[in-house]
Amino acid sequence: MGRLPIRIIFELGGRFAHMPFPATRLRRLRKTPSLRDLMCDVRVCPADLVCPVFIDESGGKTNVESMPGISRIAPGDIVGEVKEILGLGIRGVMLFGVPASKDDEGSGAFADDGLVQNAIRDIRGSLGDKIAVMADVCLCQYTKSGHCGLVKDGTTIDNDSSLEALARTAVSQARAGVDVVSPSAMMDGQVGAIRAALDRDGFGDVAIMSHSAKHASSFYAPFRDAAACAPQFGDRKSYQVPYTSARTSIQEVATDVEEGVDIVMIKPALAYLDIIAESRRRFDLPIAAYSVSGEYALVKNAASGGMIDGQAVTHEILTAIKRAGADIIVTYFAKEAAAVMCDCR
Ligand code: PBG
Repeated sequence: MGRLPIRIIFELGGRFAHMPFPATRLRRLRKTPSLRDLMCDVRVCPADLVCPVFIDESGGKTNVESMPGISRIAPGDIVGEVKEILGLGIRGVMLFGVPASKDDEGSGAFADDGLVQNAIRDIRGSLGDKIAVMADVCLCQYTKSGHCGLVKDGTTIDNDSSLEALARTAVSQARAGVDVVSPSAMMDGQVGAIRAALDRDGFGDVAIMSHSAKHASSFYAPFRDAAACAPQFGDRKSYQVPYTSARTSIQEVATDVEEGVDIVMIKPALAYLDIIAESRRRFDLPIAAYSVSGEYALVKNAASGGMIDGQAVTHEILTAIKRAGADIIVTYFAKEAAAVMCDCR
């Protein structure tokens, strides 16, 4: 043996002679359930969750076929539904309207006696401020085209005329008593236009939770079935963010922040944890993640096929979304997950 190897062996021996091997014992703190609970640094509670609710103008409760366990409810049942959600410790609902008729202007979205506006008034009337009332601000359920903005020249989605309709929608929801409006149309300038309209009409205290980085995702398919809002021509790629450019996702968030957004939302959630984490690092605002319909459907189908433990996987997914940096999680799992969570208080 040459001189060098002998020296290395000598030095290693000297350095570790006083330590039992292995030197690092991370397993010490995993020994019992109590120790594991004490070491936990991320917990999801019902109070982190927002439950989406579909209100169907055409009447009774109907199951959404592509989302097992989720139903559309009749306008008359909204208060009962929200009471149940509140009883589980959940602190917010996100309302989506499924109107009986559509037109080219999406006028049902901003009607003062529209589906969502009436629901907001009903919830407020019965439950006061016991639960945060949030409402989707978009046109796609209300337009014949199924697009999130207004169509010009037959095929283009016109940005600026859409902004007016979105701002009117937000103001009509504010008049009904909404706490948080949640624009999801991905028109440029939607946060600025909505903020200006709300402030002008005296609703400076209504907050905006924008779908800041809403990606053009195939995970939305079950929602389009639930809300009957699939585009009738083309797709949403000219306005939603491509998932192939993280830089663009962050620019979208930055633009909303400049326009005065109160809560930033990233959507979908599970395949976009990097965008959530990066937004958390860069922006000092509350961050919401929307765990969308396709994410829900994947888990439900695998669980009903006996391939995974649905409840355990749901908890793991929600924890991962929170660990990535989300403060708020909008999720179709809200009710069933809240029912088995500790309330963290
Ligand atoms: C439409 C809207 C969509 C979702 C929320 N708002 C669908 C879409 O953009 O096509 C998707 C939500 C989900 O999949 O759960 N403005």
